[in-house]
Amino acid sequence: MDAKTHWEKVYATKAPDAVSWYRAHLETSLALIERAAEARSVSIIDVGGGESTLVDDLLHRGYENLTVLDVSPTAIEVTRKRLGSDAERVHWLVGDVGEMELERDAYDLWHDRAVFHFLTTPARRVAYVQQVARAVKPGGHVIISTFGPEGPTKCSGLEVMRYDAESLHGEFGGRFRLVESSKELHETPSGTTQQFLYCYCRIE
Ligand SMILES: C[S@@+](CC[C@H](N)C(=O)[O-])C[C@H]1O[C@@H](n2cnc3c(N)ncnc32)[C@H](O)[C@@H]1O
Repeated sequence: MDAKTHWEKVYATKAPDAVSWYRAHLETSLALIERAAEARSVSIIDVGGGESTLVDDLLHRGYENLTVLDVSPTAIEVTRKRLGSDAERVHWLVGDVGEMELERDAYDLWHDRAVFHFLTTPARRVAYVQQVARAVKPGGHVIISTFGPEGPTKCSGLEVMRYDAESLHGEFGGRFRLVESSKELHETPSGTTQQFLYCYCRIE
Protein backbone atom coordinates (compact mmCIF):
# COMPACT_ATOMS: atom_id res chain seq x y z
CA MET A 1 0.00 0.00 0.00
CA ASP A 2 1.44 3.44 -0.85
CA ALA A 3 1.68 6.25 1.72
CA LYS A 4 -1.36 8.13 0.44
CA THR A 5 -3.67 5.09 0.54
CA HIS A 6 -2.50 4.16 4.03
CA TRP A 7 -2.92 7.63 5.55
CA GLU A 8 -6.22 8.31 3.83
CA LYS A 9 -7.56 5.15 5.44
CA VAL A 10 -6.29 6.23 8.87
CA TYR A 11 -7.82 9.71 8.67
CA ALA A 12 -11.09 8.44 7.21
CA THR A 13 -11.64 6.11 10.17
CA LYS A 14 -10.18 7.91 13.21
CA ALA A 15 -11.11 11.12 15.00
CA PRO A 16 -8.30 13.73 15.18
CA ASP A 17 -7.89 13.22 18.95
CA ALA A 18 -7.99 9.40 18.80
CA VAL A 19 -4.73 8.78 16.93
CA SER A 20 -1.74 7.72 19.04
CA TRP A 21 0.35 10.77 18.10
CA TYR A 22 -2.38 13.25 19.15
CA ARG A 23 -1.54 16.05 21.55
CA ALA A 24 -3.81 19.01 22.19
CA HIS A 25 -0.78 21.23 21.54
CA LEU A 26 2.72 20.37 20.25
CA GLU A 27 4.41 22.25 23.10
CA THR A 28 7.98 21.09 22.42
CA SER A 29 7.69 21.94 18.72
CA LEU A 30 6.25 25.36 19.52
CA ALA A 31 8.98 26.18 22.02
CA LEU A 32 11.72 25.16 19.57
CA ILE A 33 10.15 27.07 16.67
CA GLU A 34 9.81 30.23 18.77
CA ARG A 35 13.44 29.94 19.90
CA ALA A 36 14.76 29.23 16.40
CA ALA A 37 12.69 31.82 14.55
CA GLU A 38 11.58 34.82 16.55
CA ALA A 39 10.52 37.01 13.60
CA ARG A 40 6.89 36.42 12.69
CA SER A 41 7.61 36.94 8.98
CA VAL A 42 9.75 33.77 8.62
CA SER A 43 8.49 31.08 6.25
CA ILE A 44 7.74 27.84 8.06
CA ILE A 45 6.74 24.49 6.59
CA ASP A 46 5.15 21.76 8.72
CA VAL A 47 5.80 18.52 6.86
CA GLY A 48 3.28 15.76 7.51
CA GLY A 49 1.27 18.21 9.58
CA GLY A 50 -1.77 15.92 9.44
CA GLU A 51 -4.58 17.17 11.66
CA SER A 52 -2.28 18.59 14.35
CA THR A 53 -2.99 21.95 15.98
CA LEU A 54 0.53 23.27 15.36
CA VAL A 55 -0.67 25.52 12.53
CA ASP A 56 -3.49 26.92 14.73
CA ASP A 57 -0.99 27.71 17.49
CA LEU A 58 1.53 29.28 15.11
CA LEU A 59 -1.16 31.52 13.60
CA HIS A 60 -2.24 32.46 17.12
CA ARG A 61 1.35 33.44 17.93
CA GLY A 62 1.39 35.75 14.90
CA TYR A 63 3.41 33.73 12.36
CA GLU A 64 2.43 35.01 8.94
CA ASN A 65 4.04 32.71 6.39
CA LEU A 66 2.96 29.13 7.08
CA THR A 67 2.80 26.07 4.83
CA VAL A 68 1.33 22.71 5.81
CA LEU A 69 2.20 19.70 3.65
CA ASP A 70 0.65 16.25 3.94
CA VAL A 71 0.16 13.20 1.74
CA SER A 72 -3.44 12.91 2.99
CA PRO A 73 -6.00 15.29 1.41
CA THR A 74 -8.47 14.28 4.13
CA ALA A 75 -6.15 15.43 6.92
CA ILE A 76 -5.52 18.75 5.15
CA GLU A 77 -9.26 19.26 4.65
CA VAL A 78 -10.03 18.58 8.34
CA THR A 79 -7.38 21.11 9.40
CA ARG A 80 -8.59 23.72 6.90
CA LYS A 81 -12.18 23.35 8.11
CA ARG A 82 -11.13 23.64 11.76
CA LEU A 83 -9.34 26.92 10.98
CA GLY A 84 -12.31 28.42 9.13
CA SER A 85 -11.44 31.70 7.44
CA ASP A 86 -7.92 31.58 8.97
CA ALA A 87 -7.18 28.72 6.55
CA GLU A 88 -6.83 31.35 3.81
CA ARG A 89 -3.72 32.65 5.61
CA VAL A 90 -1.93 29.30 5.17
CA HIS A 91 -0.39 27.62 2.09
CA TRP A 92 -1.53 24.02 1.72
CA LEU A 93 0.38 21.33 -0.15
CA VAL A 94 -0.85 17.79 -0.75
CA GLY A 95 1.72 15.18 -1.78
CA ASP A 96 4.50 12.85 -0.76
CA VAL A 97 7.38 14.86 0.68
CA GLY A 98 9.94 12.59 -0.99
CA GLU A 99 8.37 12.83 -4.43
CA MET A 100 7.18 16.39 -4.92
CA GLU A 101 9.36 19.26 -6.05
CA LEU A 102 9.44 21.97 -3.43
CA GLU A 103 10.76 25.35 -4.43
CA ARG A 104 14.47 25.92 -3.82
CA ASP A 105 15.29 28.07 -0.73
CA ALA A 106 11.59 28.56 -0.01
CA TYR A 107 11.63 28.09 3.77
CA ASP A 108 13.42 29.48 6.80
CA LEU A 109 12.23 26.64 9.02
CA TRP A 110 11.32 23.01 8.35
CA HIS A 111 9.31 21.13 11.01
CA ASP A 112 8.51 17.42 10.98
CA ARG A 113 7.00 15.55 13.92
CA ALA A 114 6.65 11.81 13.29
CA VAL A 115 7.12 11.57 9.52
CA PHE A 116 10.84 10.89 8.90
CA HIS A 117 10.75 7.75 11.06
CA PHE A 118 8.34 6.12 8.56
CA LEU A 119 11.07 6.18 5.90
CA THR A 120 12.44 2.68 6.30
CA THR A 121 14.53 2.47 3.12
CA PRO A 122 17.81 4.36 2.56
CA ALA A 123 16.55 5.61 -0.84
CA ARG A 124 13.47 7.28 0.71
CA ARG A 125 15.58 8.86 3.46
CA VAL A 126 18.08 10.21 0.93
CA ALA A 127 15.22 11.71 -1.16
CA TYR A 128 13.82 13.37 2.00
CA VAL A 129 17.19 14.84 3.04
CA GLN A 130 17.76 16.16 -0.51
CA GLN A 131 14.34 17.78 -0.36
CA VAL A 132 15.18 19.53 2.96
CA ALA A 133 18.58 20.63 1.68
CA ARG A 134 17.00 22.18 -1.43
CA ALA A 135 13.87 23.72 0.12
CA VAL A 136 15.42 25.29 3.24
CA LYS A 137 17.49 28.45 2.84
CA PRO A 138 21.18 28.39 3.81
CA GLY A 139 21.27 29.36 7.50
CA GLY A 140 17.74 27.99 7.93
CA HIS A 141 16.41 25.82 10.75
CA VAL A 142 15.36 22.17 10.71
CA ILE A 143 13.37 20.60 13.55
CA ILE A 144 12.76 16.87 13.25
CA SER A 145 11.05 14.64 15.78
CA THR A 146 11.10 10.85 15.51
CA PHE A 147 10.64 7.96 17.89
CA GLY A 148 13.62 7.72 20.25
CA PRO A 149 15.78 4.63 20.91
CA GLU A 150 13.19 3.35 23.39
CA GLY A 151 10.18 4.34 21.31
CA PRO A 152 7.78 1.91 19.63
CA THR A 153 8.87 -0.19 16.64
CA LYS A 154 5.57 0.42 14.85
CA CYS A 155 3.15 3.30 14.47
CA SER A 156 -0.25 3.20 12.81
CA GLY A 157 0.48 -0.40 11.77
CA LEU A 158 3.67 0.61 9.90
CA GLU A 159 7.27 -0.30 10.73
CA VAL A 160 9.29 2.71 11.89
CA MET A 161 12.93 3.60 12.47
CA ARG A 162 14.07 4.72 15.92
CA TYR A 163 16.85 7.26 16.38
CA ASP A 164 19.11 8.87 18.92
CA ALA A 165 20.56 12.30 18.16
CA GLU A 166 23.73 10.85 16.66
CA SER A 167 22.03 8.37 14.31
CA LEU A 168 19.45 10.92 13.19
CA HIS A 169 22.15 13.48 12.55
CA GLY A 170 24.07 10.79 10.64
CA GLU A 171 21.18 10.57 8.15
CA PHE A 172 21.40 14.28 7.41
CA GLY A 173 25.15 14.85 7.16
CA GLY A 174 27.66 17.59 7.82
CA ARG A 175 25.79 20.55 6.29
CA PHE A 176 23.23 20.14 9.07
CA ARG A 177 24.77 21.51 12.29
CA LEU A 178 23.14 20.05 15.38
CA VAL A 179 22.11 22.85 17.75
CA GLU A 180 20.28 20.81 20.37
CA SER A 181 18.40 17.60 20.96
CA SER A 182 16.02 16.37 23.64
CA LYS A 183 13.73 13.47 24.41
CA GLU A 184 10.05 13.63 25.27
CA LEU A 185 7.71 11.06 26.76
CA HIS A 186 4.46 11.41 24.85
CA GLU A 187 1.29 10.16 26.50
CA THR A 188 -1.05 8.69 23.88
CA PRO A 189 -4.85 9.10 24.10
CA SER A 190 -5.06 5.46 25.26
CA GLY A 191 -2.72 6.20 28.20
CA THR A 192 0.50 4.49 27.04
CA THR A 193 3.77 6.41 26.69
CA GLN A 194 6.06 6.73 23.68
CA GLN A 195 9.59 8.12 23.65
CA PHE A 196 10.17 10.83 21.05
CA LEU A 197 13.47 12.42 20.06
CA TYR A 198 13.66 16.06 18.97
CA CYS A 199 16.63 17.36 16.97
CA TYR A 200 17.11 20.97 16.00
CA CYS A 201 19.74 21.71 13.32
CA ARG A 202 20.84 24.70 11.31
CA ILE A 203 21.83 24.35 7.69
CA GLU A 204 25.26 25.82 6.95
C1 LIG B 1 2.15 10.21 12.78
S1 LIG B 1 1.37 11.42 11.84
C2 LIG B 1 1.98 12.92 12.59
C3 LIG B 1 1.09 14.11 12.30
C4 LIG B 1 1.57 15.43 12.91
N1 LIG B 1 2.89 15.80 12.44
C5 LIG B 1 1.53 15.38 14.41
O1 LIG B 1 2.58 15.39 15.05
O2 LIG B 1 0.42 15.34 14.96
C6 LIG B 1 2.28 11.34 10.32
C7 LIG B 1 1.76 12.30 9.27
O3 LIG B 1 2.62 12.32 8.16
C8 LIG B 1 1.89 12.20 6.96
N2 LIG B 1 2.80 11.50 6.02
C9 LIG B 1 3.26 10.24 6.11
N3 LIG B 1 4.11 9.96 5.12
C10 LIG B 1 4.19 11.10 4.36
C11 LIG B 1 4.91 11.45 3.19
N4 LIG B 1 5.72 10.57 2.59
N5 LIG B 1 4.76 12.70 2.69
C12 LIG B 1 3.93 13.59 3.30
N6 LIG B 1 3.23 13.32 4.41
C13 LIG B 1 3.36 12.08 4.94
C14 LIG B 1 0.65 11.40 7.32
O4 LIG B 1 -0.43 11.60 6.46
C15 LIG B 1 0.39 11.92 8.74
O5 LIG B 1 -0.43 13.05 8.73
